[in-house]
Amino acid sequence: MKFAQIMLKNSSKLNIPKQVDRFSKYSPTPLSMKQFIDFGSANACEKTSFVFLRQELPVRLANIMKEIDFLPDKMLSTPSLKLLQSWYAQSLMELVDFLEKDPDDKIILTKFTETLINVRNRHNNVVPTMAQGVLEYKEAFGVDPVTNQNVQYFLDRFYMSRISTRMLMNQHSKCSGHLLKTWPSPTWADSRCVSLFLSLDAYESAKMLCDQYYLTSPEVEIKQVNFEGPSDLIHIVYVPSHLYHMLFELFKNAMRATVETHETSLHLPPIKVKVSLGREDLTVKMSDRGGGVPLRKIERLFSYMYSTAPSPVAENGRNAPLAGFGYGLPISRLYAKYFQGDLQLYSMEGYGTSAVIYLKALSTESIERLPVFNKSALRHYQTSTEADDWCIPSSEPKNLGKYEYSVERKEKLTR
Ligand SMILES: Nc1ncnc2c1ncn2[C@@H]1O[C@H](COP(=O)(O)OP(=O)(O)OP(=O)(O)O)[C@@H](O)[C@H]1O
Ligand SMILES: [Mg+2]
Repeated sequence: MKFAQIMLKNSSKLNIPKQVDRFSKYSPTPLSMKQFIDFGSANACEKTSFVFLRQELPVRLANIMKEIDFLPDKMLSTPSLKLLQSWYAQSLMELVDFLEKDPDDKIILTKFTETLINVRNRHNNVVPTMAQGVLEYKEAFGVDPVTNQNVQYFLDRFYMSRISTRMLMNQHSKCSGHLLKTWPSPTWADSRCVSLFLSLDAYESAKMLCDQYYLTSPEVEIKQVNFEGPSDLIHIVYVPSHLYHMLFELFKNAMRATVETHETSLHLPPIKVKVSLGREDLTVKMSDRGGGVPLRKIERLFSYMYSTAPSPVAENGRNAPLAGFGYGLPISRLYAKYFQGDLQLYSMEGYGTSAVIYLKALSTESIERLPVFNKSALRHYQTSTEADDWCIPSSEPKNLGKYEYSVERKEKLTR
């Protein structure tokens, strides 16, 4: 019996690369916000969602598993990356098991939802585990520009894929009537996502952390501009937990910068938030007077390789207060980009920073942005160091005196 079990386990292990190859040949199917709303609505059909997800989830997992293989070998051999790959392989195989199952069987539908919950829980620690792998690699082998570029490209796609698979799983759990985490905000698409309330919630949570750590925190001023009706509350079709996450991260950064820059003064300048709804965009601008960041460093703030060392878990197991992995900005930008928006930082060094979140105002334009493993993606991993096609300013100014002298002499000689 035991022998048979071991044989079965080994044969399913051997099957993994086959399944990855099989499903990575398909491109993921991006869904619009409207489709998410329909999936999660009261008359949504659990069966339709099941039939779609049992194919789509393996496709999304397999596509990104293919890309994991292109990470540097030395990174792949870290214990963190091995653990992470085993999670992905196990989840893929568990989902593939449902392909031949009968969608009309209620027990199958229940088992599928249970499997999704297990998969979601198994992948809870993907971000810190991946960050740990990157850190181990960075500490052992340093960072060169090509690896940095490849890892940045990969992680943006990897975390985006994770955001998307979690979105699908949450939406399915909702339509199958399973209880989901609703705090601090719902994790599924909502047709009345009110940015003002979310801003206040996110501010209060960040303020609590800031007060705990610094014993003080800046005030907030929130204003909204609604082109449709100046006094109407702004709301859009969106995923509340995604917007909350971005606002919370931006508030934490703004608070930390403000408190640390005004350490010695009695008054902390407030953080100003402006929410504006236009025909195309919902824009949220958060401005602080936290001293700003020089232009040279802005893009680096979004880099996973250059971010501060991950030290998110304090000794007592609680999360570090206002700064952790250094993943706050890059992951928030991914949340914004996931439904075709963006997040940008504009800073005035010596004064302060404005972070701007752009979201699509229309649910028909909010369509998932998903990575697909194809030849173009492959080319990105094959780039090598090439000479820059812009001149690199030398750190030492050239001795132009010599040059002027020789030009002058030449001119004199030809006169
Ligand atoms: N509003 C801001 N003003 C000044 N510096 C900022 C601001 N926002 C971000 N930064 C700088 O950018 C860095 C990266 O920010 P990010 O949110 O990505 O990571 P973190 O805050 O260090 O850690 P985490 O957000 O993961 O807890 C910060 O450490 C800080 O130096
Ligand atoms: Mg942060």
